[in-house]
Amino acid sequence: MLTEQQNASVAQAANQKQNQQKHQALHQASLLNKAEFWGEAAKTLDWIKPAHTVLDESQAPFYHWFTDGEMNTCYNAVDRHVLAGRGDQVAIQYVSPVTDTEYGISYAELQAQVSRLAGFMQSIGIVKGDRVVIYMSMVPETAFAMLACARIGAIHSVVFGGFAANELATRINDAKPKLVLSATCGIEPSGVIPYKPLLDKALEHAVHQVEHCLILNRSQYQADLQEGRDLDWQAALATAPKADCVSLKATDPLYVLYTSGTTGQPKGVVRDNGGHAVALAWSMQHIYDIQAGDVFWAASDVGWVVGHSYIVYGPLLVGATTLMYEGKPVGTPDPGAFWRTIAKYKVKSFFTAPTAIRAIKREDPDGEYLQGVDLACLKNVFLAGERCEPDTLVWAHTKLAKPVIDHWWQTETGWPVAANLMGTAPVAIKPGSPALPVPGYAVEVVDELGEQVAPNTSGNVVIKLPLPPGTLTTLWQNDQRYQDSYLSMYPGYYLTGDAGYTDEDGYLYIMSRIDDIINVAGHRLSTGRFEEVLCQHPDVAEAAVIGVDDQLKGQVPLGLVVLKKGVTISDEELHKQLITLVRQEIGPVASFRLVSAIQKLPKTRSGKILRGTMRKIADNQQYTAPATIEDPQTLELVRTALTRMGYADALI
Ligand code: COA
Ligand code: AMP
Repeated sequence: MLTEQQNASVAQAANQKQNQQKHQALHQASLLNKAEFWGEAAKTLDWIKPAHTVLDESQAPFYHWFTDGEMNTCYNAVDRHVLAGRGDQVAIQYVSPVTDTEYGISYAELQAQVSRLAGFMQSIGIVKGDRVVIYMSMVPETAFAMLACARIGAIHSVVFGGFAANELATRINDAKPKLVLSATCGIEPSGVIPYKPLLDKALEHAVHQVEHCLILNRSQYQADLQEGRDLDWQAALATAPKADCVSLKATDPLYVLYTSGTTGQPKGVVRDNGGHAVALAWSMQHIYDIQAGDVFWAASDVGWVVGHSYIVYGPLLVGATTLMYEGKPVGTPDPGAFWRTIAKYKVKSFFTAPTAIRAIKREDPDGEYLQGVDLACLKNVFLAGERCEPDTLVWAHTKLAKPVIDHWWQTETGWPVAANLMGTAPVAIKPGSPALPVPGYAVEVVDELGEQVAPNTSGNVVIKLPLPPGTLTTLWQNDQRYQDSYLSMYPGYYLTGDAGYTDEDGYLYIMSRIDDIINVAGHRLSTGRFEEVLCQHPDVAEAAVIGVDDQLKGQVPLGLVVLKKGVTISDEELHKQLITLVRQEIGPVASFRLVSAIQKLPKTRSGKILRGTMRKIADNQQYTAPATIEDPQTLELVRTALTRMGYADALI
């Protein structure tokens, strides 16, 4: 005879099994009848002209969704909800513990703000297709700026505030904006971070010249405006006319978001309007279980893809309330801040990065800050941005007593590739796995020759083309790089750059990157870019940077540099100068603190630095020196340097 609890768990298991079949049936339908599946999903949006052609394969391997459809993303995210009677509902709930500010912005107010900002842009000559760079902090005006661009068909490119002037200049040179929108500062727990001087420096260095900058003066930092170029946000908007939504082709670009590639030059991921809106609306309902009127909180930054998709567009497209948070998981003021905010604003689904959970766990291992906080409103917690080790997930699940859902995606895909469909068919949670491929994505794990590998065998994770709506359509002004980076290794497939495996139930496990990208606190950075910057130092001849495991941030960068002949600089001074250099050139977000000199780097005879082997040494993994190694002794030099830095055990 089974106890009540045993009966309940048997019933739950049976239900999860059924749900897995349901998930798989939906997944299969999405791949077999793509046009039908996404055509149906598109009906949840308002179209100026519905598309007859759902999937256009005529320019393969470039695929386009809803090619002859016309719509406006801003209309779907704002205006239609006002028309449907949601004008008084809070669209954006702003919570800023670092400035002690909290207020809500209704859909009607959002419409007024966005249409005025769009009107201002039109008044200074911004038209459909023009680029607008947004370098702002976590304030509602950043969302207004994105939506205002969408309203008039301008293409926004948001640059994360933690990047230095040089990174901003690189993006300005590539996107060639007519206008930059910026705030005078961001606020970090360490204090006010002036952005305006960084913007000025970036514009000084950029080859491309912008016509205007619209500056939001935050009271924490007042900045001087440059006559003729800079305009004050409040003053400009006071007299601006309101602009209506323009009709856009579904395939017109909505935004360009730069992300790290393997070289120092970031990749400008291009997202369209129609496919993006359809995919995000679908994901809100089926993955995140969010409908109109619900409260959703993605604790990320608008500068990252999570912020684009799930602070701004996703929740607003379905008429939900999105919570925008300017603060950290810990220290603003304590590790209970997330939980109290969820309870106060009745958040139904909460999304954060594993790093945030690790930070909270480190400061509050027993969950004392959860005492007395009523989390009845909270249905699910979602984690993404980096691999979530099982311990972290299990800790969160145990303390919160809620399903904690790992899901996997990337800037390029714009929305989850593998996830548990919590709104449609929740399946069993396996810690360490982001569950099953999401409808629309034909995920395979393949070997070097492109052959599918058996379950529980590691390989490269690829997605059979076409990718579903909402994924990148190309790289900004660089179709060739798009093809070279993602489509050329396995023709007919998109290379995710991740390695992993599936288990016998079809669950996916994403274990590592196959390229030189590292993931620091959920922030994606290129080791190639670090190396470029280190080599700018006058004493450095060569540099190699790898990602090493970090208890809090998942990974952190570690650099080894070879000095030029005859250089005499103390280790301490070199360390200080290189760290300052990286901070100045890439930005504080790089979290670069580990660097040391080495006599010689390990290389193949053709000169390729053996970063993979270096990583293995750092993580105390088994490795074999490649047959092509130029000088096997260099591996010992690496081990000695890493041991000195607290990584890699000394050779016994
Ligand atoms: N503008 C300016 N500077 C910024 C910034 C921004 N928007 N965001 C971060 N920085 C700075 C920080 O102040 C810090 O500078 P410091 O070296 O002077 O202290 C540096 O960049 C690193 O910041 P961060 O990555 O936030 O690390 P931290 O050590 O300050 O805090 C955590 C640690 C765990 C609290 C933090 O990493 C965190 O909140 N992680 C969650 C990550 C997340 O949500 N990622 C979303 C991706 S989906
Ligand atoms: P970004 O483009 O910044 O979102 O980073 C995407 C990369 O982060 C992916 O390619 C993965 O390497 C990693 N990543 C994101 N989510 C997960 C996850 N749930 N599990 C493992 N890795 C992840």
